[in-house]
Amino acid sequence: MINQLNREYGIDGVLRFELGQGAIPQACITTEFAKAVVSLHGAQVLSYVPSGQQDILWVSHKSHFEEQTAIRGGIPICWPWFNAHPTDADKPSHGFARLMDWSVVSSELTDEGDVSICFALESSDESMRLWPYRFQLTCWVRVGRALRVELNTSNLSSDSMRISAALHSYFAISDPAKVRLYGLENTRFIDALSTKEFVESAPPVIDREIDRVYLEHTDDCLIADAGLKRTICVSKSNSHSVVVWNPWIDKSRRMRDFGNDEYKNMICVETVKIYDDIMEIEPGTHQSFSTTIRLV
Ligand code: BG6
Repeated sequence: MINQLNREYGIDGVLRFELGQGAIPQACITTEFAKAVVSLHGAQVLSYVPSGQQDILWVSHKSHFEEQTAIRGGIPICWPWFNAHPTDADKPSHGFARLMDWSVVSSELTDEGDVSICFALESSDESMRLWPYRFQLTCWVRVGRALRVELNTSNLSSDSMRISAALHSYFAISDPAKVRLYGLENTRFIDALSTKEFVESAPPVIDREIDRVYLEHTDDCLIADAGLKRTICVSKSNSHSVVVWNPWIDKSRRMRDFGNDEYKNMICVETVKIYDDIMEIEPGTHQSFSTTIRLV
């Protein structure tokens, strides 16, 4: 399989496929501007390292790399529902797109020197058991001075679809005490821990479990890290919701694929489609949303 991927989609010196952890195929990209790794399991970006920098993304040392299991870190694609299934608690958290193996449909070295790869996932008997719609999902990953991930959903069914989704980005940080999150001030949010609604008055401080859904938000989010001396900018298009999540101490201990102390080195700032931002997709049509991540 790896030989075939390299024959069909490899690009000399910039894109090669290899087996990653758990013998899962992954795309390894090296451009003038950055290196990146994207797993075919979930079309999940696992690493994005701009030249001369440390990795912007975070992956747990305790992550599983197995069939039917989500990889803990990078940018999982949560689809076609976000968090628990609305009516059936037995269905997988955050949907099934992150649990499945995607295929590669194209790769390109652009005139600007970026690498762009398109991954696809199509409905199957397995997906129909979990969610009774025919679909095609495509995920475009573009690696250069910025990392751009765009998810496109095509409705191939005869019924309309209601989809919540996320590009659930895990960022590497030095220490929550040294990080400030800007760009969320004056934004209404639902606190998932109390299910109450508030308006953010100041940049949120990460000093306890945080799980918030910011609504009607279109600005960039800035993760200013005094410890790593860098600021990550997270932009989005066709999405006006952001989830900020850090499990902190107790929840970290409850998660089997998350180290007890790892909450100190990650923060999720997720580009999301939920609540009034949910996707309603009519038969024969498609919708997309994207996130762009870069150092500023
Ligand atoms: C976040 C949710 O997006 O994902 C949290 O807001 C959830 O509530 C977290 O705990 C991780 O979810 P999972 O299914 O990957 O453990």
